[in-house]
Amino acid sequence: MSASAAPVVLGIETSCDETGVGIVRGTALLANRIASSMELHARFGGVVPEIAARAHLEAMEPTIRAALVDAQLTLDDIDAVAVTAGPGLAGALMVGIGAAKGLATARELPLYGVNHLVGHVAADVLSGEPLELPTIALLVSGGHTSLLLVRDLAGDVELLGETIDDAAGEAFDKTARLLGLSYPGGPSIDAAAVGGDPRAIAFPRGLTAPKDRQKHRWNFSFSGLKTSVARHVERAQAAGEALPTADVAASFREAVVDVLIAKALDACQAHGIPRLLLGGGVVANARLRDVAIERCEAAGVTLRIPPLELCTDNGAMIAAVGAMLVARGDAPSPAGFAAESTLEANVVQVVE
Ligand code: KG4
Ligand code: ZN
Repeated sequence: MSASAAPVVLGIETSCDETGVGIVRGTALLANRIASSMELHARFGGVVPEIAARAHLEAMEPTIRAALVDAQLTLDDIDAVAVTAGPGLAGALMVGIGAAKGLATARELPLYGVNHLVGHVAADVLSGEPLELPTIALLVSGGHTSLLLVRDLAGDVELLGETIDDAAGEAFDKTARLLGLSYPGGPSIDAAAVGGDPRAIAFPRGLTAPKDRQKHRWNFSFSGLKTSVARHVERAQAAGEALPTADVAASFREAVVDVLIAKALDACQAHGIPRLLLGGGVVANARLRDVAIERCEAAGVTLRIPPLELCTDNGAMIAAVGAMLVARGDAPSPAGFAAESTLEANVVQVVE
């Protein structure tokens, strides 16, 4: 690395079903390769951890090679390696960590084991504009639903709330299954909702009752909603009626979107922070984006949505966290660090 150039960091992400390898130079995105094992999980209706881990093993080397080709670099150009240490599926994380340790040891490079959730927020710095802090961040995917208050990416990240049962994407996946739709559920519910009336069925908005305000103001729950859809399907079946699938899909989606955005904006207001950042695969939902745009504008909140390929799980966001740590002069993670499937949001880098 020349004295003036920002560090080139290769980031590896394997917390769920995407094998992501990204390369950044400081905050500039050079490569973002993703190999997904999603189709292998389709017939199970959700991610199967052992299948994901095996798929990461197979995809790792070709994905690293492809990222280097995209960035027009060789391993000689890499200054540091970053890898997701958690949270995520333990077996899947271990594959990424093993690969990162092998690479770092062989090339004598510093290695940073970093937090996946912080990565989702850091992804925004790669979009070309500076990330304004503090911000509220809503991260919604198949594996997590987290509401964060981010004051400083390098360590001051507070978890305000998270799901107490299913993740938002998981709710889409499970509900799609109930409706006989394919996996992943988000896109298939979107397709089924076309022409449906989002107000046709008043599905429950989890943890929004006045009694929930004390303990669960910024937590989420989607299992009651899923059960409510199941009751709907059963009732229609018992009555021998055709299920109004478009109305059910549209009303379900509306309930999820409504509660996500309402709680995120409540957090903005309660903390006096007029900024909201979205991340995670559920951001692909056009209705979520539309409602977010509309309600943020009405509330005077500036909304940031990174490009979709930086919202879904990817290695570039992990590389971005690594580049930030290198730039700050932080020491790398100790050689023996392990996967931490429940890593807390405020731990940017694992140090033991
Ligand atoms: O961040 P992501 O790619 O990775 C994991 O969680 O592994 O998110 C995937 C999740 C799945 O649960 C999928 O159903 C959901 O994001 N998703 C959507 C949409 N597209 C993907 N959810 C709602 N609407 C969508 N259009
Ligand atoms: Zn994620």
